[in-house]
Amino acid sequence: PKVAVLMGGPSAEREVSLASGRDCAAALREAGYEVVEVDAGHDLCARLSEIKPDVVFNALHGRWGEDGCVQGMLEWLGIPYTHSGVLASAMAMDKQRSKAVFRAAGLPVVQSVLRPKSEVVADHVMTPPYVVKPNNEGSSVGIYIVHEAANGPPKLSEDMPEHVMVETYAPGRELTTTVMGDLALTVTDIITDGWYDYHAKYAPGGSRHVVPADVPQDVYDACMDYAVRAHKALGCRGVSRTDFRWDDTRGVAGLIILETNTQPGMAPTSLAPEQAQHCGLTFAQFCAWMVEDASC
Ligand code: DAL
Ligand code: MG
Repeated sequence: PKVAVLMGGPSAEREVSLASGRDCAAALREAGYEVVEVDAGHDLCARLSEIKPDVVFNALHGRWGEDGCVQGMLEWLGIPYTHSGVLASAMAMDKQRSKAVFRAAGLPVVQSVLRPKSEVVADHVMTPPYVVKPNNEGSSVGIYIVHEAANGPPKLSEDMPEHVMVETYAPGRELTTTVMGDLALTVTDIITDGWYDYHAKYAPGGSRHVVPADVPQDVYDACMDYAVRAHKALGCRGVSRTDFRWDDTRGVAGLIILETNTQPGMAPTSLAPEQAQHCGLTFAQFCAWMVEDASC
């Protein structure tokens, strides 16, 4: 079968997506597929009509590629594609709305509100410590942490959207679990010197991954259970990855869901492929599974 790997695109996570896409394309060739690499621009629809792929491997991250837009176009064209469909992608990308879904499913999340940027820069809209983030970006793009009231409200950059999410700061360790089909793979503990920001996520040596996480059994089991329930509550398909914060002074009660990523990073050393490898799947086998699982 012919597979078109979509990558790049115009989102803030373009570079991350190019890295994911190139590695997935190479792995799929190794697995025996005919692969065409496509940098997703405004001519994407025409390109796909020309290429006529049997399956689209979606290696896009962020807006347009992860929020239901590209998924809708692929539905329209009738081309099977990897990962989640339109609604699940749109819900997961909207952090505020996905929290409402998690809450309704009985999953733990912290309190948050959507506010106009002008209100957020004028005064504290929540008692510090709190976090301000775009409602619909990934890779920690545009995140501000307000630790103390005395520091004043955050000075948000021009390119932040008109409405931003303000969320109670959840202290603790970063844990994450990948779901593949209906199964949780394992739990990774992400160890960084400071905050797990864009640099820590992508710079060599920016963070260390402990797989499986060395955490108490009940916390491990809760991550596995919550990740599957989050995946199902949003209606995700294929592979997703749910990120957690765990306050280790509070036992399993200190575990909260930060978000579910419907297009998790897909370089061979990214979190999801690493978890698949822990479960005995090579990177090429993991990518091939996604292609075989694709639908529309
Ligand atoms: N948004 C990045 C790609 C991730 O969640 O892995
Ligand atoms: Mg994310």
